[in-house]
Amino acid sequence: MNLFDSSCSRVFGLLTVFIALLAVVFHYMENSESAEYPRMDLAALAENFKQKNKTCFILGASGETGKVLLKEIVQRKIFSKVTLIGRRKLNFEDQIYENLVQEVVDFEKLEEYAAAFQGHDVGYCCLGTTKAKAGTEGFIRVDHDYVLKSAELAKAGGCTHFHLESSRGANKASSFLYLKTKGQVEADIEELGFERYSIYRPGVLLVNREESRPAEWLAQRFLSAVSSMLPAMSIPITSVARAMVVNTLWEGEKKTEVLENKAIFNLSKIGEKQ
Ligand SMILES: NC(=O)c1ccc[n+]([C@@H]2O[C@H](COP(=O)([O-])OP(=O)(O)OC[C@H]3O[C@@H](n4cnc5c(N)ncnc54)[C@H](OP(=O)(O)O)[C@@H]3O)[C@@H](O)[C@H]2O)c1
Repeated sequence: MNLFDSSCSRVFGLLTVFIALLAVVFHYMENSESAEYPRMDLAALAENFKQKNKTCFILGASGETGKVLLKEIVQRKIFSKVTLIGRRKLNFEDQIYENLVQEVVDFEKLEEYAAAFQGHDVGYCCLGTTKAKAGTEGFIRVDHDYVLKSAELAKAGGCTHFHLESSRGANKASSFLYLKTKGQVEADIEELGFERYSIYRPGVLLVNREESRPAEWLAQRFLSAVSSMLPAMSIPITSVARAMVVNTLWEGEKKTEVLENKAIFNLSKIGEKQ
């Protein structure tokens, strides 16, 4: 065996040990997450929910999760009114979107758009950007300030159930900007005292994104390859959107709930046709 072969096999060995260790850690973390749900008749829950004539708004409906969430919601016809709140008007060709209301707002002057948030029972927030795209300040502005202000206006406008798409590892004490910002906004919204507040903490989102994000792309490739060993690390975007809808229909009683990756995945499977 030459020097190159021997270095390669050493690197490969170390990588295998590293992945195995990661698998043990995540297996432990995953099993420590509470992710069991009672049996549910989703069709009956949906029917019951429809009778209540509830309304909702979606922030970030042009984004990857938001798009899928919106489709789930309009296909199921569970709300009497669906409002999209965003910085630009979206165009839809399919008839299923014909009754949408669209509110175009300036997120830098959100307080001037309080009316856009009024009269919605349920609010979904899938808003977000990246440090690479917006810089540190811009990232905090969007992922914290815009999100928190929207939640405040929603609460003032009568919203009783607020859903926030946050991130795995969100922690306001973290030294990483991304996790700290996500944790801070989670905590600040909790202070607003919604009747029900659902925080989703997905791992890496598995999606064919149109926009180029090399780091996310690399993470997705790696996690797809080792997904059986590290299931707690990633999740298809469709599962996140579906879990948000199932959770809405379920109307659980916890005031604030944090759904980690596994809980999101398990919830998304409820009522799914095999
Ligand atoms: N990527 C991951 O692997 C991952 C993992 C865990 C959690 N998350 C979190 O999950 C959430 C949704 O992620 P995603 O990938 O589905 O989102 P996305 O595709 O990046 O979409 C983001 C949404 O936010 C809006 N937005 C971004 N910057 C804005 C600004 N300056 N002003 C107003 N609106 C703005 C976008 O509107 P436009 O269409 O107008 O730009 C879009 O609707 C984010 O909070 C993200 O941090 C992501």
